[in-house]
Amino acid sequence: MAFVERRIAVVGTGYVGLVTGAVLAKVGHRVTCVDNDPAKVRILEAGKLPIYEPGLEALVEDVRTTGRLAFSGEIAPVVGAAEVVFICVGTPPLPSGKADLSYIEQVARDIARSLGTHYTVVVEKSTVPVHTGMRVKRTIERHAPAGARFDVASNPEFLAEGTAVRDALAPNRIVVGVDSERARVVMEGLYAPFACPLIVTGIESAEIIKHASNSFLALKISYINAVARICELAGADVVQVARGMGLDERIGPHFLRAGIGYGGSCFPKDVDAFGEIASELGYEFTLIREAQRINAEQRTRFIRKIEDALWVVKDKRVALWGLSFKPDTDDLREAPAMDIARWLLDHGAVVRAHDPVAMDKARVLLPKVDYGADPYAVCEGADALVLVTEWKTYIEADLGRVRAAMRHPILLDGRNVFDPAHVVALGFEYHGVGRGAVAGHDGVVRGPGRGR
Ligand code: UDX
Repeated sequence: MAFVERRIAVVGTGYVGLVTGAVLAKVGHRVTCVDNDPAKVRILEAGKLPIYEPGLEALVEDVRTTGRLAFSGEIAPVVGAAEVVFICVGTPPLPSGKADLSYIEQVARDIARSLGTHYTVVVEKSTVPVHTGMRVKRTIERHAPAGARFDVASNPEFLAEGTAVRDALAPNRIVVGVDSERARVVMEGLYAPFACPLIVTGIESAEIIKHASNSFLALKISYINAVARICELAGADVVQVARGMGLDERIGPHFLRAGIGYGGSCFPKDVDAFGEIASELGYEFTLIREAQRINAEQRTRFIRKIEDALWVVKDKRVALWGLSFKPDTDDLREAPAMDIARWLLDHGAVVRAHDPVAMDKARVLLPKVDYGADPYAVCEGADALVLVTEWKTYIEADLGRVRAAMRHPILLDGRNVFDPAHVVALGFEYHGVGRGAVAGHDGVVRGPGRGR
């Protein structure tokens, strides 16, 4: 299918909307990103980004100077002029675990009222439960002027934070769910510049591909975390076990890193929403419910490890390395560091934390934490160091210097990034996750003469 340049509207300028808009502009389309938050639009028009995402600012700058990307706070004229409209608004979790689809509904109504007289494809890109596309279609039909010509498509986004630009410019696959030949042709022409496979399915299948993919990855993480438990009990090392498993190409090496469990803006909410929609449709998806249970337990077990290592927590000085839910992002949603810091503060510890980019956001949520200028400063006089997020700067840190700065060299490695033999040789007491072989059956590695 040959490339066809399109006028595109992207509604919502979060991670998905901004990256989608910038990447589609980069490959040659004319894109306007719309947001109803005037503050956000002002930031974007000033050449800044409301989020931290490596490579995105440069890409946005690049496509803005070529005139292919613009921002606006006015949905009606932008949608009215567009041939393809992407819905990229948030679908946050409701207390019930279901996705809150009220923003999607509102945007669907706004789009309906703004449609031009030409044919338009309205593409649902936010992560949504199956049947949302059908409901978006119904909503637009109800609110659009008589005779409006449009189709709805589903085009789930698989980008991960921290690598979003790379993921969107060179995806593994593009999934497009359509229910008309005309929409298929538009979507194929739109994505023609991308070299990856383009999978065309029905709308429901495309919606399920997204939830099923995220839930499968979450399942894989919970699986290795369950194996980590067995490793601790059996005297094995989960890092070695995962390496041995991952070399089987049917299993693959990815998402087999045991640790504190998954967090972030997607997995927790998407797994929950998939379980909820399955149940609503009449199937109790107990497999992913168990994955959720293991994930929650992983966090509380790690906190128990900290407590066990410190014994009395009150007045102990604890250094935290990493606050964001994973490296290369400032996103604190469902970040384990937030729970750990809160628990430590609630139990009277003095918490000193460092993160390469998330400290400004963390200060607002946890003002009682003392934030340090660099990873070493927070370790001065510490009774324990907890590695929560595996930023490169921590993996490459001078641990000899850290050891010298600490009052008691207890190292709790929530991501299994350190070599236990190396850190023990430096004089640390090491606690990993699922590292029974190197740790002995109590899960603790002690250096010579440091036994209790
Ligand atoms: C995820 C999906 O990867 C992406 O395709 C989807 O579009 C959105 O959700 P993201 O949440 O940005 O992306 O991060 P990801 O790298 O997938 O990590 C998710 C969580 O799993 C993080 O908390 C990470 O620390 C954890 N994780 C990941 C593990 O605990 N172990 C692993 O082996 C891999």
